[in-house]
Formats: sequence, C-alpha cells, structure tokens
Amino acid sequence: MSKTSITSQGNAIRTDSLRSVIALACAESRHLLHVLYALQRQFLHISDAALREVAAYLDIPISQVDAVVEFYSFLHKSPRGRFDIMFSNCTSCGDPELLRLLCQRLDVVEGESRADGLVSIDQTSCIGMCDHGAALLVNGTPIAHLDAGMIERIAILIETERPLADWPAELFVVTGNIRRAGLLLNDGLAAGDGLRAMLACGATGTLGEVIQSGLRGRGGAGFSTGMKWQFCREERGRARYVVCNADEGEPGTFKDRVLLHSHADAVFEGMTICAAVIGAKQGFLYLRGEYRYLLPQLQMVLVRRREMGLLGTGILGKIGFDFDIEIAVGAGAYICGEESALIESLENKRGIPRNRPPFPVTHGYLGQPTVVNNVETFAAAAHIALRGSAWFRKSGTDESAGSKILSVSGDCAKPGIYEYPFGVSIRQVLDDCGAQDVQAVQIGGPAGTLIGNAEFDRRLCFEDLSTGGSIMVFGEKRDLLAVIRNFAHFFAHESCGFCTPCRVGTTLLRKRLSKIAAGRGTQYDLDEMKRLAALVKHRSHCGLGQTASNPVLDAMHRFPHIFEQRLAQSDFEPYFDLDAALEEARQVTHRNDAAAHLE
Ligand SMILES: Cc1cc2nc3c(=O)[nH]c(=O)nc-3n(C[C@H](O)[C@H](O)[C@H](O)COP(=O)(O)O)c2cc1C
Ligand code: SF4
Repeated sequence: MSKTSITSQGNAIRTDSLRSVIALACAESRHLLHVLYALQRQFLHISDAALREVAAYLDIPISQVDAVVEFYSFLHKSPRGRFDIMFSNCTSCGDPELLRLLCQRLDVVEGESRADGLVSIDQTSCIGMCDHGAALLVNGTPIAHLDAGMIERIAILIETERPLADWPAELFVVTGNIRRAGLLLNDGLAAGDGLRAMLACGATGTLGEVIQSGLRGRGGAGFSTGMKWQFCREERGRARYVVCNADEGEPGTFKDRVLLHSHADAVFEGMTICAAVIGAKQGFLYLRGEYRYLLPQLQMVLVRRREMGLLGTGILGKIGFDFDIEIAVGAGAYICGEESALIESLENKRGIPRNRPPFPVTHGYLGQPTVVNNVETFAAAAHIALRGSAWFRKSGTDESAGSKILSVSGDCAKPGIYEYPFGVSIRQVLDDCGAQDVQAVQIGGPAGTLIGNAEFDRRLCFEDLSTGGSIMVFGEKRDLLAVIRNFAHFFAHESCGFCTPCRVGTTLLRKRLSKIAAGRGTQYDLDEMKRLAALVKHRSHCGLGQTASNPVLDAMHRFPHIFEQRLAQSDFEPYFDLDAALEEARQVTHRNDAAAHLE
C-alpha cells in the first residue's frame, strides 16, 4: 500500500505520486535541480517526504538534497500559490509600485501565499528583461511591459483561475530588440559551417586560429579563450567537459538571452568546436532558471542538430568525433554564474564557489579538465573557426579584438542590444540609445564601474572600461542613492553565505545605506562604510564579494554629494531610532507631551 505524507496545507501526497513524478523527471534528466523543479511544479513545494524520495531515487544523502532546496531561491519547502508570481526588483526591469498594486489587488501579503492557495507574490533579482520595462515571472514564464492596466489584466486572469496555457499569447512576447548588429549579430553562420571549417583546418589549426584571434572571454574576466582551451587540452584526465555559462544573472544583462533565442546554433557550434579541440564528449549548457521559457526552443535546436549530424556520434561523418550537449537549468542563484559554483551546481550541490586554484581547466566537472565559457564567447569562437583570426582582429583594439554585445537599459529612449567593435566610447553608446541628461552610467552591472558624465569619453575595452555587457543609464532625475541601495540589497541577497566578510559585510553595507537614506547617517557612518567596503572587497572568498562594494565605493568617490546631502548634523546617530520606537507606548498611554519624547 502506498503511504501518504501531509503538506502544510493539509493535503495528502501519496508516496507513489511522488515516485512517479521523480521517475518521469529522471527519464529526461537525473540532474537534481531538474527533478526538484518537476516535483515543485506538480506539488507546489518540496515536502520532507519528497526530499526523502528524491534522495533515495538518486542515491544522494538527504542532507545534500535538503541543503540544495534551502540554497536556491526558486525552490520552496512550503507551498506556493497555484499562480506563483515573482516580480523583478532590478533598477531596470523592476517596479515596486506595480508589485504593491498587484499585492493589494489580489489581497496577498508579499512573500506569502494567499490562504486559499491560489496565488503567491514575491520579489526576485533581475530577470533579464531590462529592455522590456517592468517585468515579472508567473510560474516561471516572463511577462514584461507591465503597467497598471497589465496588472489589472493579470489579476483578473488569476482571480478567474484561467490556466496559464490559456492566457493571451501577446502577454508573453519577448522580443530580441537588436538595435545595432556587428560582427556576430550580422551573422551569416549556417548550422555546420563553423564545424566544417574546423574539420578542414584540423582541431590543432583551429585552436591556433582562436589563440591568434585574441578572443577574450565575454563573461567578464576576459581571459584568453584560446589559452584556456589549450590548457584544458594539455591536461590529463579520464574525460574532459565543455560548459557554456548561460547563467547571466548580473542585473542589466540580457544579451545572452537574445543570443540563445536568435543565435543558438552559433553557440552550440562554438561548444562543439571547443569539444573537438579539447577532446570532450559531453557538454552542458547551464541556463539560468529565469530563462526556462527558452528551454523547449533550445531543446528543438539540439534535436535538429543531432538530425543534421552536428551532434552525437561521428559528427559530420568523422569517426571518433562524438559529442553531445545537455541543458541544465538553474534555480535562481546569481552566484551560480561564478564558474566553480556553476560546476558545483551541475554536480547536484549548492552553488558555493570552490577554492581556486585549482581552476576548472584542470579540476572542473567531476574533478576533470573542463572549459567554462560564456555564451557570447562560444558564438564568437564559431565565427572565428569559419572566418579566421585575421577577420576577427580587424575589429576592436590591440588588447580587445573583435566586438562586444551590450545590453543597454535604464533611462534611454531605445533600450536593447547593441553590438560595437571594442573601443567604442560611452558617449557614442548613449547617443545611439537616445539617452539625454544622463547623470551616471553603470558599466558591467552592479559588480562593475559607476561613472559620471566627465568620463563619457572613456572607451569600452579591456584596456579601459571592461564589461560583461551590461550598460545601465541613469538620468538626472534618478535618485542615485536609491540605485546604490538597490545594488547593495542585491549583493546581500545573493551572497552565498560561505565566507563571513561577504555574508556579514554585504548586509552591514545595506543597513548603513538605509540609515543614510533615512536621514539618520553621519560622517561617522560614511567613514565606517568606506572601511567596511574595503574589507568586503579585499577579504571575500570569490568574485561576488570582491566586487560587491564597488557601487558604494564608486558612488562615494564620484558622487559624494548623494550621501553628504542626507547626513544628519550630529557626530553620531545610532541605527535604532529610540524615540520612534516609543511611539506605540505613547499611543497606548495617550501621551504625546514633551516628557513622553526623548528629544
Ligand atoms: C558572482 C559571479 C557571477 C558570474 N556570472 C557569470 C555569468 O552569468 N555568465 C558568465 O559567462 N560568467 C559569469 N561569471 C564569470 C565566470 O566565473 C567565468 O569567468 C566565465 O564564465 C568564463 O567564461 P569566459 O572566459 O568566456 O568569460 C561570473 C563571475 C562571478 C564572480
Ligand atoms: S564572497 Fe560571498 S558569494 Fe563568494 S563565497 Fe564568500 S559569501 Fe559566497
């Protein structure tokens, strides 16, 4: 007889139902996040019984499955609503007013499920829709271009319990928004062209071309792609792996979304070329959970490529050239974009960054040599295999060959995707996207650099301002301190918690900024914030902590007035407002005379 377990809403879930969902999910992929997602979709949460069943089925310790569920913000141990809404809280694709409006309209407390289980509403970090205005995810599917009218439509659809599949299709339209195409996006790369060129030139010759091209990683750090491939190829191991990093969690970045939507063949082609060069049989595309809506389409591209002999065994008829790609979908953790955390996630663990060295090229997935590259890097590599290094080097600067695809958002008339040769000035980008009266530009997302208009002639390239792709524009009317607070909140929320300087430091930074914004900060707070920001930057374990205080430090350096104009005039103010805390007591005792106040 099948046992049952009781959910916190009192519903019984039969063990055989759990097992059949797990078995069905495992028939597609045994990746833990995939199985947990399937369970949550069916039962709206991961119950203790589900944890036990998954652990038994996949032969993983329960403690590991439990830790994974706790770690990823898209997984929940208590039931979500049948319509689970997550509002982006990014400065470009979020709008707290619309979030409040929907909560009010549906009578939902933010962060909770409504008592009847119909709907839950929460916030989430940037969902990569920054060129589409305010946006949310409903059961994981994005809806953008939100305004009060759209909120009302969504509320009605939920109240009338219209199944998501029957919601008007136009609500879900996400466009490519390519405003300026260059080397890669002008693309005439037909599926298989890059691979054929690689086979004609040979794996070693192609590696030479990639090295010669000067291609540097587009995920942010800018390491030489050819050298990375060469180190991996030279490393001894039982197997080698290719991983495409499509986690794209940096607020304001959405260019990988567009590449995967419109140029997936080039990305998969680049991965397959890399596999031939390093001798890998297996590849993974790690897709951020927010882009799950792209999954069916990407799976179709993989199926087509297998049918065309571009994946599988004996690719393009070459004996021994065997390679295939699996897509793993994340579950709402920015830190999983860090390559070693990503690999941990692929290995069914929490996304905690590893100690480096060793680097993934020597000890990556399952401890074996692994190349991790960004989506755009693989697409560029496919083009280089086809057209050669000289073609690529013709664009860009000495140390930054080729082009960069930018995600432009914020206060501008034409947000979207812009591809330029490296070396383009910020001023040019601002002119092209119709930005006027610009106060500041955040280059490379919150982890990058904040500059003011005195620096708009600086250039986008590794020699000057490097960026993974995010350009956020802030007009003169923006409250820049609110922007910095938003970024501080982002880092405090996304810190994986592994090391103290980042876990505690990011929260303290956020709190001190709130104190200053509330008009309770003093010069002492500014000095403390600077000290703390330096500590977080220099003492944190991984790139997240090492860059988390950049917005605060940049803003203090370039825009000191946004802090100074809010300072209280005393030497010291406690975090806690004692007088305000006594308000409840004053009301209970019906006193509001001078003696009932501290000041
Ligand atoms: C907190 C953090 C988040 C990151 N997120 C991404 C990401 O979303 N996509 C990406 O390609 N690289 C990301 N990176 C950089 C990766 O660790 C890695 O350097 C990159 O994937 C290598 O590919 P590339 O050489 O092609 O740039 C992130 C790094 C850190 C520290
Ligand atoms: S720096 Fe932050 S994100 Fe990185 S390991 Fe430490 S706590 Fe985790």
